[in-house]
Amino acid sequence: MTGKKRDMISILDVQEDLLEILDLAEELKSGRYDGRMPLQGKILAMIFEKSSTRTRVSFEVGMLELGGHALNLSMKELQLGRGETVADTAKVLSRYVDGIMYRAYQHTMMLELAQNATVPVINALDDVEHPCQTMADLLTIKEHKGDLAGLRLAYLGDGNNVCNSLMLGAAVCGMNFVAACPKGYEPSVELTKKAQSIAKKKKGSIQIVEDPLKAAKGADAVYTDVWVSMGQEAEAKERERIFMPYQINREVMRAAKKDAIAMHCLPAHRDMEIAAEIMDGPQSVVFDQAENRLHTQKALLYKLLGD
Ligand code: CP
Ligand code: NVA
Repeated sequence: MTGKKRDMISILDVQEDLLEILDLAEELKSGRYDGRMPLQGKILAMIFEKSSTRTRVSFEVGMLELGGHALNLSMKELQLGRGETVADTAKVLSRYVDGIMYRAYQHTMMLELAQNATVPVINALDDVEHPCQTMADLLTIKEHKGDLAGLRLAYLGDGNNVCNSLMLGAAVCGMNFVAACPKGYEPSVELTKKAQSIAKKKKGSIQIVEDPLKAAKGADAVYTDVWVSMGQEAEAKERERIFMPYQINREVMRAAKKDAIAMHCLPAHRDMEIAAEIMDGPQSVVFDQAENRLHTQKALLYKLLGD
């Protein structure tokens, strides 16, 4: 396949269209069963180096609902798992399919796949970003709080892939984003600078602090992710000790606005990064976030793979 292709490796790759993607996702969500099939005959290859529930199922269902098809390819089945290069894998898959979704350990592998594929590549999580999650999160906030610009979004915990993309997405949407992270666990310095420069133009702000209550104060939404990301299992004990003060609990939610929403990208560990009573309580929107993975990814697929 030839022609100009468009990837989404970072949430910034769709920054010009982000609000449009959210609008389209809302439209697709409300007409979910209206039978429109704009991706009829299109095929998406999905490569998973790590586990997944939401990403795997939402992409597969999304492709089916748009009239296309998705192939689930695990490392166990692919020659990639036996040492074939990611570049060769990209070139071969590009001869068969219309797009590639990739969940990788390393960002460098993601870039190499994108550079060598002649079809659009979607980052479904690597060690730097998780842009698909951010699209769903922004739609969820918009559904519950209205216009994103000016809203205060507090992120508590590990400055990881989810945090990096959320910070960039919040900047693009003119939000006031504040992350509270322990020293040494802040989001990427380079991406923080990028986000701050975007936020300045959009009249929003990006702040990194250490105190979780300071971050949560007056927030419209309070967000967390796991303390131990996939691949960090060996550090679990130490991380649990370091991150315990960053748990989203009653005290944190009391510091936020009275009607604040509590967010988590899932999978979650109750009474670790989020107290069970918050996760299962009335302020929680975690399952809306999970559902919105489907609708926002459908909008993205429509944009990248549609004719
Ligand atoms: N939030 C998320 O990406 O979930 P999965 O790991 O289940 O895909
Ligand atoms: N930060 C987590 C997100 C899981 C969806 C991880 O990388 O494992």
